[in-house]
Amino acid sequence: MKLSIPELQHSERPIVMVTAYDYPGGKHAEAGGVDMILVGDSLGNVVLGYDSTAPVTLADMIHHGRAVRRGAPNTFLVVDMPFGTYHTGATDAMRNAVKIIQETGADAVKMEGATTEILQVVDNLTRNGIPVVGHVGLMPQTATAQGGLRAQGKDDESARLTVEGAAALEQAGAFSLVLEAIPARLAKLITERLTIPTIGIGAGVHCDGQVLVTHDLLGIYEGEQKKIAKRYAEVGQIAREAIEQYAQEVRARQFPARENSFVMKDDVLDKLY
Ligand code: KIV
Ligand code: NA
Repeated sequence: MKLSIPELQHSERPIVMVTAYDYPGGKHAEAGGVDMILVGDSLGNVVLGYDSTAPVTLADMIHHGRAVRRGAPNTFLVVDMPFGTYHTGATDAMRNAVKIIQETGADAVKMEGATTEILQVVDNLTRNGIPVVGHVGLMPQTATAQGGLRAQGKDDESARLTVEGAAALEQAGAFSLVLEAIPARLAKLITERLTIPTIGIGAGVHCDGQVLVTHDLLGIYEGEQKKIAKRYAEVGQIAREAIEQYAQEVRARQFPARENSFVMKDDVLDKLY
């Protein structure tokens, strides 16, 4: 059963969120019983092979979001607004968010940041009935300007900006907030101050929920081991071994076996000879 926003907000137990990027990913997430699925623009890194999320387009997000929805029709679905699709004014942001909602069947959109401009966009979308998840701390879309992919909120200025941004996003109407790569105690403080649920990734155990990139947790994406992720399986290794075994069996004429082949009657065959 898909949870409603009030149910998510009043959840007695931690909210479980994972990313998904395609039909089987959506199916696995829903069958695994998560509370929310995120079609993250981490798509760029873990599925499309870019070295950042910046090249990901609206069309990419819609293409993958639709596939996830087909696999997970009964789970609360959030789709990331990609870089550049909510930075050119509230009208453009509204148009792009509507397109995402209409074409993917998502329940909400997510966007990074808490600048005056972003807060205006959040305010405008939520006033017009589009639920928004905020995202502060490490913000991969603009990580270059943040000094690279590194934890945020560690010094006075950055901690203050993160706390104020979180509060401002709640004020602007965000119904939930992702906290990425900030100290656990800062995430605890933000979680205590806000009414809306915080969903952490690399933000400690005190958040109201947790999100992980599925390709990290399954070991499908085997880039350098990230501190903020935990590998619960080695699917990449399993895939490699299976393909090696297939290759070996083809070369040894062990595959296809009898049970993989079709049979025909001898008399039909005899007429062909
Ligand atoms: O794109 C993504 O996967 C995300 C999560 C890490 C929160 O934004
Ligand atoms: Na993202």
